[in-house]
Amino acid sequence: MDGNDLVRSVKAVGTVRGLRAVRSALRRRRTDARGLPARGPERARVPGQVRAAEPRPGGGLVRFARAELEVRVTVGGAVFLGWDGAGPEPSYALAGPAPEPDARAVLEPDTDDGWRVVSERVTVAVSRHGAVEVRTPGGVVLRRELPPRWWEPVEGGPGRWALRSELAADARVFGLGGRAAGPRLRDGVYRLWNTDPGGAFAPGDDPLYITMPVQLVVADGGTHLAFYDNTWDGRVRLREGVEGAGSGHDRPGHSELRMEGGPVRCWVVTGTPARVLRGWAALTGAPAVPPSWALGPQHARWGFGSESEVRRVVAGYREHGLPLSALHLDIDHYDAHQVFTVDRESFPDLPRLAKDLAEDGVRLVSIVDPAVKARRGNAVYEGGLAAGAFVRDARGEEVRGVVWPGECVYPDFTDAGAREWWGGLYQERLDQGFAGVWHDMNEPVSFAAFGDPTLPRSARHALEGRGGDHREAHNVYGLAMARAGYEGLRRLRPDDRPFLFSRSGWAGMQRYGGTWSGDVATGWPGLRASLALVLGLGLCGVPYSGPDVGGFTGSPSPELYLRWFQLASRLPFFRTHSALRAGRREPWEFGPDVLEHARGALVERERLRPYFMTLAQLARLTGAPYVRPVWWGGPGDRALRDCEDAFLLGDALLVAPVFEPGAVRRAVRLPRGRWYDAATGEPHEGPGQVVLDAPLSRIPVLARAGSVIPVRGERGEVELEVWAPVAGRTGGGIVVRDAGDGWGTPKVERFTTRLARGRVVVERVTAEGTTRELGYPVRVRGGVQ
Ligand code: NOJ
Repeated sequence: MDGNDLVRSVKAVGTVRGLRAVRSALRRRRTDARGLPARGPERARVPGQVRAAEPRPGGGLVRFARAELEVRVTVGGAVFLGWDGAGPEPSYALAGPAPEPDARAVLEPDTDDGWRVVSERVTVAVSRHGAVEVRTPGGVVLRRELPPRWWEPVEGGPGRWALRSELAADARVFGLGGRAAGPRLRDGVYRLWNTDPGGAFAPGDDPLYITMPVQLVVADGGTHLAFYDNTWDGRVRLREGVEGAGSGHDRPGHSELRMEGGPVRCWVVTGTPARVLRGWAALTGAPAVPPSWALGPQHARWGFGSESEVRRVVAGYREHGLPLSALHLDIDHYDAHQVFTVDRESFPDLPRLAKDLAEDGVRLVSIVDPAVKARRGNAVYEGGLAAGAFVRDARGEEVRGVVWPGECVYPDFTDAGAREWWGGLYQERLDQGFAGVWHDMNEPVSFAAFGDPTLPRSARHALEGRGGDHREAHNVYGLAMARAGYEGLRRLRPDDRPFLFSRSGWAGMQRYGGTWSGDVATGWPGLRASLALVLGLGLCGVPYSGPDVGGFTGSPSPELYLRWFQLASRLPFFRTHSALRAGRREPWEFGPDVLEHARGALVERERLRPYFMTLAQLARLTGAPYVRPVWWGGPGDRALRDCEDAFLLGDALLVAPVFEPGAVRRAVRLPRGRWYDAATGEPHEGPGQVVLDAPLSRIPVLARAGSVIPVRGERGEVELEVWAPVAGRTGGGIVVRDAGDGWGTPKVERFTTRLARGRVVVERVTAEGTTRELGYPVRVRGGVQ
């Protein structure tokens, strides 16, 4: 029991939930003591000397004295490295079968008895001791993996392993899922074990709800993504490099991965950031496009006590002239917190409520927790029992935990049958009038007075028929639940794109939907963490996310609330939300000035909706997140790589939120090119730093010269906002119009811009050439010089 455990258990004792949490923690410990073999003697192993190599499609198999390594370059350029027979499948991350090997990649002897695989975009060199270098075609080493080390039980069974990688001295590391301390991951240890931090989290808290062994590494020599396809518990120790360290020599950066079990296999994708994310989406799946309404403003709260409260809040938005797209119902609307039920006293007629809100253009979204109250007579419990859907322990007994409804059981989402059963339950939500789902508590959580607040590590899981335990299934529990929900909704409502977002997840979760920050603590540090999470997740391929505006806990000052609101209004998922005992979050609760400025942010969000839809569609088509770090354009101004307080929204906009109390100006580092202050039209030249006004009424937003941004005109029609290009340079943009909220193929249109005799010329690119028939009204902005 550590300090935190002690605080948790002291807090817990005395309440019914507290006693249950103590009991559940003891029970988990007992189950593991019975179900997990004690760690016996282990034997260490390294690959040893190279013996031979033989060509295989896409590369070859290199044999060492005590291990073997497959190197496979695949069509599209992604490299697969698999030790000791590990292939790309089975995998929870991959969207489908692994890409075909690149038939043109060849295995050749390298210097010093090593081997190398040469392909068009990447060279992989394997040393005689099993170190692996991933190099650009120009020979720059992007990543050097030292030989793995294993510690294997003498008795047999899964072994632990470690792998140390060297990175360039100037490399910066991003990713590893949602990390509050990011987006740049500094020296430290990052655990790979999805965790509900309990209460609320601050930037120092790690890990959080979504961890993934995905690193996006940016250096002068190039960008790459490394993904260790292994769902087990693990830790990554990062140490950034130092240029010109000691006697002028660079000290490389290091990343050391230690895993508790599972295969040693890795994918490496190289190229520009855009190429890398495209390659990553090709492997793990295109991000689901939310229905268009999910790109509008949304409001939630834990503790909406009744239907009349919900109606009051929605009416408040209407009366204050504020747009609202969706309202979320938290666990309060369930009967005694039991999933797929309704508290009919407080919410007597949900379908009616949903219908009335729909008339105001407001959709209802429902929270869905995985844990099912273990009570005879609870239809969901009975149904799950009949379907054999719940997680059991090594003795075949139901694994029980404690969540909001009390004693609960957990569906095993790694079982196709359980997923199908669970997906069918969403019919009840649809019948109640809900238009989307919000998956929560799916790390999964079981309240515990001490120790890990999740299922016993020995709990058994189907793992798609292979069988295994929670050590392997834990990190993909939320991902597999998202799959169950998504597939269920698609079966039940085949014509609609599902709206689903999930607190926990893993590599590939974007196929099913998005996520949100979880319980970010109210405070200025939480505001920063909010952006860190969205940026980091985007670089792991999960582009749709956003924070609880105002923070989850307590009461933000009016200024903090407003700055949060302004930031989130430029993020994909824009939702106010707060905890049961937290203060209100409606924009009119913070005084007339905040209301006015929040209205400004909402109006601008609505104006940008066609741009957000374009970005959602582009994420699907290209894997590029809507929200990108300012270095997205590639190497160049190095200082950009360290800039963590601004972001690009698509190609066209640079958003510089305010993170400091009292600030009414802020410094903004600009990427190369001309940028216009979107509020004043004033041009600024990058690269370099400018100081911009950031009055309470707005945060600085800059538009790239030459860009074309689809916006909503005054009468609701789409128009093109064109920012004057620089003389002698061309610009342009893409517009993707949604074909409704179903599966119709959206129209992709390309535009170019240039200056001709001092006038801005906008053209549409067609198969035959370009045309000035644009099909949209145009509004030119920015000075012409
Ligand atoms: C935890 C979630 O993170 C939070 O958003 C929600 O309000 C509570 N669970 C209650 O359901």
